[in-house]
Amino acid sequence: MRNLIIATTAALISVGLTASANADKHAFNDAESAVDYRQNALSIMRDNFVAMAEMVKGEVEYDAAIFSQRADDFARLSHIPWDGFSVEGAMPGENTDALPEIWDNWDDFKQRSEDFIQGAEQLATVASTGSMSDIAPAFKEAAKNCKGCHDNYKD
Ligand code: HEC
Repeated sequence: MRNLIIATTAALISVGLTASANADKHAFNDAESAVDYRQNALSIMRDNFVAMAEMVKGEVEYDAAIFSQRADDFARLSHIPWDGFSVEGAMPGENTDALPEIWDNWDDFKQRSEDFIQGAEQLATVASTGSMSDIAPAFKEAAKNCKGCHDNYKD
């Protein structure tokens, strides 16, 4: 019985240790999957962005429900890519356009990603009103954040 208690206690301690070690883990284990992860996330984000751009420019007829759904998805996706930059070793390489400046200016990069998320959430809020005259400026504001970051940190 005593041995059983000791074994159980040891097992619980080791479960506890594993759980706290996992707190530092990301959705991927190595630099290559981190790069894939962020590029995939940025691509689906872009798909939603392009669909909205077509309606803002009038190339596709504005449909408030579809636009609002795109804006909601876009806002959710705006949170996703950045974790893929935070893994140690997910540095520039052959299969990425990320510039080394990101890791030299991490606080600025992080701030830009946070401003971007805020802009995307703002756009989703405005999109739910169904008024294109309010949507267009919010959309342009979000677009500025893409360009600002790409100009500094993307090859
Ligand atoms: C905070 C910085 C930042 C913001 C904001 C940002 N991007 Fe990027 N984006 C990057 C970086 C860095 C890369 C290069 C990633 C790589 O290749 O590893 C990239 C790559 C991409 C790619 C290429 C993905 C691939 O398959 O290689 C697309 C598409 C993209 N971004 C679209 C957008 C759009 C659209 C927006 C705005 C709605 C946006 N990005 C906002 C930093 C940003």
